[in-house]
Amino acid sequence: MRTAFAILLVAATGVHAQDPIFEPNAKPTLVLKHGAGEGPAWHPELGLLFSGDEGIGRLARDGKQSVWRAKAGTNGLTFDREGRLIACEPVHGRVTRTEKDGTIKVLADKYDGHRFNQPNDVCLDSKGRIYFTDPCYGDRSKMEMTDAKGNKVEGVYRIDLDRKVQRILTYGEVDRPNGVRISADDKYLYVADNNNDKVGAARKLWRFDLKADGAADVASRKLLHDWGAARGPDGIKLDVKGRLYVAGGLNKENLPFETNDHKGGVYVFSPEGKLLTFLHIDRDEVTNTAFAGDDLRTLYITAGGTLWSIRTAVPGDVYWPAANGAKPAKDVSPEAKVKGLPYEAVIAAVAQEKGDPARGSQIYLSQTCNNCHTVKPSEPSKGPYLGDLGKRAKRDEILESILKPNEKILPGYETVALVLKTGQSLQGFLIRETDDELKLRDAQGVVLEVAKRDVEERNIRKTSVMPAELVDNISIADLASLVAYFESLQTPPRKK
Ligand code: HEC
Repeated sequence: MRTAFAILLVAATGVHAQDPIFEPNAKPTLVLKHGAGEGPAWHPELGLLFSGDEGIGRLARDGKQSVWRAKAGTNGLTFDREGRLIACEPVHGRVTRTEKDGTIKVLADKYDGHRFNQPNDVCLDSKGRIYFTDPCYGDRSKMEMTDAKGNKVEGVYRIDLDRKVQRILTYGEVDRPNGVRISADDKYLYVADNNNDKVGAARKLWRFDLKADGAADVASRKLLHDWGAARGPDGIKLDVKGRLYVAGGLNKENLPFETNDHKGGVYVFSPEGKLLTFLHIDRDEVTNTAFAGDDLRTLYITAGGTLWSIRTAVPGDVYWPAANGAKPAKDVSPEAKVKGLPYEAVIAAVAQEKGDPARGSQIYLSQTCNNCHTVKPSEPSKGPYLGDLGKRAKRDEILESILKPNEKILPGYETVALVLKTGQSLQGFLIRETDDELKLRDAQGVVLEVAKRDVEERNIRKTSVMPAELVDNISIADLASLVAYFESLQTPPRKK
């Protein structure tokens, strides 16, 4: 009876102790001798990126090593579901995102007015919220991050989709958080707690229940593994079966701080913390791993600047490229409504549809796009002219501007936010400004005329007035038609 129960429990997690982890007879091979200190992340065209002393390094698909971004000061790297690089930059105390056009956007550099310590490692949940750890290794004299009681905080943080930053684990709940990962179903938050330079401090792998709002359930904290007095756990990655690949341990003892009774390498655990296998790496400072390659079955391992690889039995659970997890485009019907579908699924599904420009011109009108836009040179100007869009933009750029108006704002079309002397607030994009008057068009496309003397406060917001929900209730086929319509528009605007 007891045995049967135990087997059931294991089966429920989908992980069986006997399931293969690495390919039969696979051994780790040395790929690079220097430069790969931390944070490996796979990009299907660039190859592997990693953090090192010189900056972000790159191992191209053809095996060539180069410096991809010099002096980047990064540690943990990951690509989000749109293929944008999210980087922890401990040297600059911040987390950044590299946009498709190459600009580096700071996502978080402060919490509650205090500068972060050393953002270390980063992961995402299925909704695209970003989680990162903020330990402080080495010098603590310049640490700004304290709580209301004055405790120095080495916490875990979440960046929400609106870029608000929340602290989800704080002083007393974790000691020195390093690696971090969320299970694919958003149920669990795994944290590698690794305080290596203090005798008796944490070298533990924790699991917390993650609540729907992205908060950690502190009371649910479960110890999955304890490295005791040895070097603790560092980077965590997951495979498609939810198994954890945790870098850690040490081959050559570093007394009194670290023993070597947990050797250096990759520790593979079930979601319940059962050690399934250990892959020894004959090099110290085994810091992290990354699933890579077109089948996501090559595991790269960073160790003391060297890079190793080994073939695995199943693919890794990465956010991008979508080899798994994401809904394949063929599963999304052309009749499906845009609303509720993940962004990548919409992009992929629209790409499969040719679209009908004539139908698209009807959608343009029915979705009230013409409240703010014009398509013929003869129309009186309202806002951005789209009559030449087919000349200026490619299909996927057009689609992105429609689905994510806030991503790239056309110069001159930022949102102007006004507070009037009466206390009333107004927002819109500026259509005209004279010495004593402002003319705005609001999110409903309505023109607002305001006398400047009535304005108390005027601010510019770097967001778009254009509502993204306008295409929520149309189908994939209609969205493809709308895009095909814009592609067909090739008439330059009238010269002023
Ligand atoms: C409330 C006003 C408003 C409405 C309604 C509106 N837009 Fe826009 N749109 C804007 C503004 C303002 C911009 C420029 C700022 C920006 O880039 O978001 C813009 C930009 C765009 C762009 C990028 C243009 C370029 O030159 O790159 C496209 C494409 C677009 N809109 C399509 C649409 C479509 C399709 C609809 C209807 C579903 C629509 N818009 C409805 C205000 C609006």
